[in-house]
Amino acid sequence: MIELVIEPLGNRIPCTYRQTIIDAVRSVGITICATCGGQGTCGHCAVIVIHGDVSTPHISEENTLGLEKIKSGWRLACQTTIQGNVKIYLPPESFSSVHRLQVETAPSPIGYTPGSALSQYGQTRFGSSAIGLAVDLGTTKIAAYLVDIESGKTIDQSGVINPQISYGEDVIARINHTFKEADGAENLQKIVVQALNSLAGELCGRTGKNIRDIEDAVIVGNTAMHHLLIGLSVRSLGLSPYVPTEKKALDIPARQLGLDFSPYANVHFLPNIGGFVGGDHVAMLLGSGMLEKEGVILGLDIGTNTEISLIVNGAHFACSAASGPAFEGAHIRYGLRAISGAIEKIIIHNERVEYKTIDNQPPKGLCGSGILDLVAQMLRSGIIDRKGSMIDSYFDRIRMGKNIEKAFIVVPADQNNGFEITFSRKDVNEIQLAKAAIRTGTSLLLRHAEISEQDITKVVIAGAFGTYLDVQSGMDIGMFPQISKGKFLQVGNAAGTGAKMALLSLERRKRAEELARHVTHVELTKEKNFSSMFARALLFD
Ligand code: FES
Repeated sequence: MIELVIEPLGNRIPCTYRQTIIDAVRSVGITICATCGGQGTCGHCAVIVIHGDVSTPHISEENTLGLEKIKSGWRLACQTTIQGNVKIYLPPESFSSVHRLQVETAPSPIGYTPGSALSQYGQTRFGSSAIGLAVDLGTTKIAAYLVDIESGKTIDQSGVINPQISYGEDVIARINHTFKEADGAENLQKIVVQALNSLAGELCGRTGKNIRDIEDAVIVGNTAMHHLLIGLSVRSLGLSPYVPTEKKALDIPARQLGLDFSPYANVHFLPNIGGFVGGDHVAMLLGSGMLEKEGVILGLDIGTNTEISLIVNGAHFACSAASGPAFEGAHIRYGLRAISGAIEKIIIHNERVEYKTIDNQPPKGLCGSGILDLVAQMLRSGIIDRKGSMIDSYFDRIRMGKNIEKAFIVVPADQNNGFEITFSRKDVNEIQLAKAAIRTGTSLLLRHAEISEQDITKVVIAGAFGTYLDVQSGMDIGMFPQISKGKFLQVGNAAGTGAKMALLSLERRKRAEELARHVTHVELTKEKNFSSMFARALLFD
């Protein structure tokens, strides 16, 4: 029998010859980050092999980790197989949990009418201490809010990484998983239900409640997250033209979904709009207040999938752009989620690179807002050109040579206890892809509405990354419309706010249904000139 020891947890796991480290770790219920679904490209499953017999490094490990890291014992858990007794160190950032999951919502929902949906239904079985749960079920993160149904107050809130990330970083990877594995859909459903139960249990536990006290819930997510949780087929979502199986609002008994809430509790799902634009976007529209604004309003909910809405004189267009997880730190060599020690702000001035890290800890890597700042600053300083090509020298900060990937040295090793942080041409390219997706989506909605970006009166930016990003950096790299900075409004997790509003008001639920019916969904990949517009949008201008 071969044994795998996991430090610092101290777990000893029996495993089989040639089993991958990631499979062995998962077999005991430890969720390890695998945002690329085990392709060897994201680097998020990196572990240190302390000692033992393992396979020789795969070419994907050399590409993703680099030879220096491999020499110091780093390996990708998804690529490395166990060939004898092995001891590994699992670093905190490889666990599926994060230090700072942004779940903050707007302080007071706009237009919020106190009074519970339950009492409006005329139901009387709930006591004055009834509690409800609002959930924003994201592709990468799950944010949950425990709410006092009578007063409308949020009792507590918390967030976790969506454990489905172990099966792929984006909706397409997860849908493909259900095509490949007979029990794929069932597994994805099971792990997300477990996560919801444990998140709800944790919230109840720390506020002196019981999970069985949850009398009502609203869960919002994109159409893939919605279908996978409910157990609806995702087949038509995996194939062009990406049509959801179900669009209308649903009420499903919590017990039927496997949720340990009150036996009488229902879960309400807001309606879907079309394609991958789901109830989470409807919730964002409710929660951001953008429906109440006058003029031409552009709304962006930036995530692994970015949903975009454009409202012009009562007409409403929406689309979903596959922006990918680069701003979550995935696919970026030294990318991190927003954990302690992640660089979140950067300024480059001549040879000086000034940065700020989360919790002011020594730098470990770059999170989304830091990555965005870095690219904008590299562009401004002439380190990269509009095509994203990197110059050969910038003081002593460009690393290049035979068999060495050209990269900008963000933090030199001698300033950070021997740990160097770089940003390569390939990393720049990942950001070009993300920004091109968002820009092309915006341009195509403007084309549908037959207006130009100069006609936009307000840009509402929602989502975790959207809360912390620097708008000027977003404009500098051409991700956002080139309009006055004063027109931008960052609103936090508006989808969470919208879910809470729907939990508390039947009127809001009805409004959501009406809203979803009147939105024109634009499927980007079917749009004329989509490819050429996307290629053009890769440029930084
Ligand atoms: Fe191993 Fe992405 S899961 S590199």
